[in-house]
Amino acid sequence: MEEIAYVNGSFVPIAEAKVSILDRGFLFADGIYEVAAVLEGKLIDNASHLARLERSVGEIALPLPETTERIEQIQKELVARNHLVNGMVYLEVTRGADSGRDFAFPKGDVRPTLVMFTSVKDIVNAPSAKTGIGVITVPDIRWTRRDIKSVALLAQVLAKQAAAEAGAGEAWMIEDGLVTEGGSSSCFILTRDDVLVTRQNGSAILPGCTRKAVVRLAEERQLRVEERPFSVEEALAAREVFITSATVFVQAVVTIDGKTVANGKPGPMTDRLREIYVDFARATAV
Ligand code: PDD
Repeated sequence: MEEIAYVNGSFVPIAEAKVSILDRGFLFADGIYEVAAVLEGKLIDNASHLARLERSVGEIALPLPETTERIEQIQKELVARNHLVNGMVYLEVTRGADSGRDFAFPKGDVRPTLVMFTSVKDIVNAPSAKTGIGVITVPDIRWTRRDIKSVALLAQVLAKQAAAEAGAGEAWMIEDGLVTEGGSSSCFILTRDDVLVTRQNGSAILPGCTRKAVVRLAEERQLRVEERPFSVEEALAAREVFITSATVFVQAVVTIDGKTVANGKPGPMTDRLREIYVDFARATAV
């Protein structure tokens, strides 16, 4: 079965899904993206992803070409057309294709580009959830507006390539001796005093939708949560370490730069929060 993508109003086979070489997403990374998980054919925590999309485009004065209600309809139609059971929907909106390469915003009536595609992934049964993953650390060389979900991901490409070459599952980015976030995930530790620690939102990190849900679900269960930065040393001394994202949910980390965290196995709190998140995902799926 041929995979279908969405491009500016049309559903087309992925091989025919094309945008102009003058598209500002291609020329300047002048665009915003979102990734929402799909579980059993339904979108997970999508209201949160669409709210962040609206915020991100607002921060760069990029008008959405469709309402978020319509965007959700398109996401659902794409899931249905691709018979997607488990995986994700990627969506990207850019400032469109102007007649040339002017850095400043187009002056005329240039319609923003909106594209979407799906991919398959069994997030719930991913083998890494049982084994945990290793992470490596790299300097955080990104710009200072990481709260905007921009398609300018070169720093993350390089970080995650370094992780792949080291046989690790994620790269943690470090700034001023502290962990900012993963290449495409939020970072958590559970301290020896059973406090869940994750960096506070702000311009240094992307406000993760999964992070937000996990913090709320943990607090509802009377777990102590502290939103503050932590160092790699603190993570290595922690009881448990994990990352969160739309594409892994809650994923245990068992080594950092080759050094073992706790007993080298996913911890019980990580496993529990993963179960709680999956329940939340199923309960709120649309
Ligand atoms: N990345 N931090 C960064 C830098 C990210 O790119 C992501 C998500 C997250 C986690 O956010 P959320 O829980 O909303 O997925 C944190 C997506 C999955 C990606 O780029 O593929």
